[in-house]
Amino acid sequence: MIVRISDIAGFDGKEVTIQGWAANVRSSGKIAFLQLRDGSAGLLQAVISHDAVGDAVFSSAKTVTIESSVIVTGTVKAEPRSPGGFELQATNVELVQKAEEYPIGKKEHGPEFLHDNRHLWIRTPKQAAILRVRDTVIWALREFFRNEGFVLTDTPILTPTSCEGTTELFETDYFGQKAYLSQSGQLYLEALASALGKVYDFGPTFRAEKSKTRRHLTEFWMLDAEMAYTDLEQSMALQEKMIMYVVQSVLKERRADLELLERDIAALEKVQTPFVRMTYDEALVKLKELGSDIKWGTDLGNDDETILTKAYDRPIFVTRYPVAIKAFYMKPDPQNPKVALCADLLAPEGIGEIIGGSQRIDDYDFLVKRLEEHKLNRKDFEWYLDLRKYGSVPHSGFGIGLERTVGWMCGLAHVREAIPFPRLINRLTP
Ligand code: 4AD
Ligand code: MG
Repeated sequence: MIVRISDIAGFDGKEVTIQGWAANVRSSGKIAFLQLRDGSAGLLQAVISHDAVGDAVFSSAKTVTIESSVIVTGTVKAEPRSPGGFELQATNVELVQKAEEYPIGKKEHGPEFLHDNRHLWIRTPKQAAILRVRDTVIWALREFFRNEGFVLTDTPILTPTSCEGTTELFETDYFGQKAYLSQSGQLYLEALASALGKVYDFGPTFRAEKSKTRRHLTEFWMLDAEMAYTDLEQSMALQEKMIMYVVQSVLKERRADLELLERDIAALEKVQTPFVRMTYDEALVKLKELGSDIKWGTDLGNDDETILTKAYDRPIFVTRYPVAIKAFYMKPDPQNPKVALCADLLAPEGIGEIIGGSQRIDDYDFLVKRLEEHKLNRKDFEWYLDLRKYGSVPHSGFGIGLERTVGWMCGLAHVREAIPFPRLINRLTP
């Protein structure tokens, strides 16, 4: 019976067949060991003894090289000393293709080499574990929004205008007209929220980020959510619930992968509600205590977010940033119009911002004024202004970055490992 390594525990004492690859090979005398991987979980050791398989199979098994494709049949045996708790006592080994000398070895490779070989590097147990965690984060988010009664809608990738400011746009020619790759589906989601009430999108977004940091990709996945008749506080409450759902799903479904990644699981288990809430002004006071020289009116830098989040063991909502450093669509706080009704969620352990969100301007005239202040062409936003003409309501939303969230779950130093094929300022390949 063909079984995947992730299901092996259910087959103790039974004969199974694994279709996979040899992650590692070793032999001495009349015994050979193949570390098998099939992508479903960590490695499974197959023990091939000459006595059990006979001359022909044993000699063929001994020629297996790293990353050769193999089909191994054998009896599953509990083995507490093996990583997954089981090993396979082989009765047959079929060599499907003998791999050439594999470029990724046991020795340490630099990040550039590994990224040049990303198409192969994704096979290594840690990289595959990250991609399985990514899968769980995606499904957890989708499940969460489905349970909350949201409608999944899709927003366009080719757009005529910017959403998050014009400095980081990828421009392309659209039959003689300028088009831009979407930075966020938010503006379209606002239209969809008036049609469907509670909506979200989930897809690739693009920013021509000139910055080379451990948090920035030029192509990344974002989930935007938008809710009619919702204020900032209600939106933050939903975000908190969403993050708890994601963290709990990862802890439940991917514990073995987190262990394989040597993730500090206790740190993830400490994530509890209520999250820390502080205003931008309060964050500045705290940051100055922690040694930052940040001035009022500037955005929190990477270093500021790092030291701030290391001071708490749960996520932090930083609310009410100065209007001047945020996007044109954010509603100013009626109590203090210098600051916006917005919140960034900063993940702990030095990770920093994973969510950006706000209450949106719902007044037509005021939105016109903000477009002018931001030197955005009103004509391009006529359809967006229409939403304030026909049944405008208080509404809020947010966007969560998938790779930063996966990076947090996995304890990664850089977001580039949280996406199968990262796009960075200096990388478009493979
Ligand atoms: O804070 P941002 O720019 O917010 C928006 O785009 C809003 N329109 C979202 C909304 O309200 N619907 O981006 C949202 C999130 C960030 O918090 C971050 O997690 C992620 O997207 N993000 C990036 N992730 C990787 N690389 C980049 N260059 C990113 N830029 C933003
Ligand atoms: Mg942001």
